[in-house]
Amino acid sequence: MIDFYLNGKRQRCADVAPDTSILELLRNHLGDTGTKEGCASGDCGACTVAIGEPDGNGHLQYHNANSCITPAHQLHGSHLVTVEGLSRGDALHPAQAAMVACHGSQCGFCTPGIVMSLFTLFEQQRHAPAPLNQQRLESALGGNLCRCTGYRPIRDAALSMTEHPDTHPAWADDPSLADNVAELSRTTNEGSTRCGHFTVPHDLASLRELKRSRPQARLVAGATDLWLETTQQLKPLNDLIDIRRIAELNVIDETADGWWIGAAVTYSRLIPLLADAYPAFEHLMHRFASSQIRNRGTLGGNIANASPIGDTPPVLLALDARLLLDGPGGERQLPLTEFFLDYKQTALADNEFIRAVFLPRPTEAHNLKVWKLSKRREDDISAVLGAFAWRKDKGILRDVRLAFGGMAATPRRARHAEAALEGQPVTAATFAAARSALNGEFSPMTDVRGSSEYRQLAASNLLERLRLMMNEESASSNDHTGAEVTLDAYAH
Ligand SMILES: Cc1cc2nc3c(=O)[nH]c(=O)nc-3n(C[C@H](O)[C@H](O)[C@H](O)COP(=O)(O)OP(=O)(O)OC[C@H]3O[C@@H](n4cnc5c(N)ncnc54)[C@H](O)[C@@H]3O)c2cc1C
Ligand code: FES
Ligand code: FES
Repeated sequence: MIDFYLNGKRQRCADVAPDTSILELLRNHLGDTGTKEGCASGDCGACTVAIGEPDGNGHLQYHNANSCITPAHQLHGSHLVTVEGLSRGDALHPAQAAMVACHGSQCGFCTPGIVMSLFTLFEQQRHAPAPLNQQRLESALGGNLCRCTGYRPIRDAALSMTEHPDTHPAWADDPSLADNVAELSRTTNEGSTRCGHFTVPHDLASLRELKRSRPQARLVAGATDLWLETTQQLKPLNDLIDIRRIAELNVIDETADGWWIGAAVTYSRLIPLLADAYPAFEHLMHRFASSQIRNRGTLGGNIANASPIGDTPPVLLALDARLLLDGPGGERQLPLTEFFLDYKQTALADNEFIRAVFLPRPTEAHNLKVWKLSKRREDDISAVLGAFAWRKDKGILRDVRLAFGGMAATPRRARHAEAALEGQPVTAATFAAARSALNGEFSPMTDVRGSSEYRQLAASNLLERLRLMMNEESASSNDHTGAEVTLDAYAH
């Protein structure tokens, strides 16, 4: 039974198959067809909805999400807001009124999704007002495509929302809504149906027991990778264990040496920590997918998925991160360098799961640079990603770690190129040696994102770029403290 609130009204949906998405629940089970389906893969944003979850302080925090790839069962104990739930009688919500006033819609197919992303932006502004600059707008709307209107009217609508009367949706009048949702969120939806299981453990001990009794069941966190197996490959997903509600997987533990980040912590929750500790990593997150995906996707999912083009593994390799793995047989730690074995093969045993990722605290002399190369700036997968960490001691490079995505069957460190730089000064000759070593250590594949030759050349050029940047920094300052990034997107 999925027990949740939809536009302020309680819904109890029984016998929903485990692989049902929120979009299917809305359109096929509940008959609410305002939310549209475009790509069914999280790329277009037509299906965007807002999900309100209790923040522990008596309020609901709303985030936008792609309903096409979010499991319906994850709605249990939350408040789902769709485009049908925004207006109050004939009075439009400011997100809708602004879109009308600015002519932000033509065919209208993308409009419900765009309005829902604007609604969440408006709600965030209401609770934490901040200037709506270009970067915030791109971040809020980067996951919403429009094929006919052109983005200027939509941007104008976003910028002028606050000039319209602040009409609250009718459900916002209900003073007990947040408490009722919080109450529901403490209950468990077992989700066993005629078609399979969707189990939602709330603690680590239950997850260990489930991994023992049902080792074949698939874990689901944000579902932003997993769900494509059903929408794109039409595979059944009928035996699922949802780890999003496990308290121990949702904490960020600070220690003297760094941070243990729970595997179910979403990117949106992680970003403020990265902004303080590793600005280079935080900047990368602005090029990672869209706000809809960052609100649901997790570091644990990115690592466990073991994609050769996942964005965080090369950065974590460069930072020498390690993993805490857990399961019925107990816990163990593993350096991330030993986790990726081959294409989509990891060191995780069948009954194990990733519990946390350790991010070391940056030292004063630490440097990090990250460059993501993709065809599109917003919401695109990397062709090549280079993440480079080092420190300099009296002009000599030390602790050099060069990690790449998109160059091999797994995210990998370039050990030969590292060896060519370790203990050397920053000169054209040492970097030429590193580039030559790099050419010998990867045989990248050709696919839609880039040819093998392009990838090889691009990776080599990233090393040259690193050298030029180090020289530039030496010229402007002798102080190499702190992490820094310059991404293509922000470099002009
Ligand atoms: C439109 C779109 C854009 C994207 N853009 C990017 C991008 O720019 N960069 C990028 O790197 N990725 C991108 N992705 C991929 C995806 O968002 C990330 O890989 C994300 O981190 C996956 O996390 P999740 O919580 O959604 O994982 P899920 O989909 O829930 O799980 C993924 C896999 O990991 C397993 N798993 C999850 N958690 C654990 C755990 N704790 N222990 C063991 N196994 C586990 C699951 O069983 C599943 O096999 C994109 C995806 C979409 C749909
Ligand atoms: S339908 Fe395209 S993102 Fe969901
Ligand atoms: S108005 Fe037609 S796709 Fe946006």
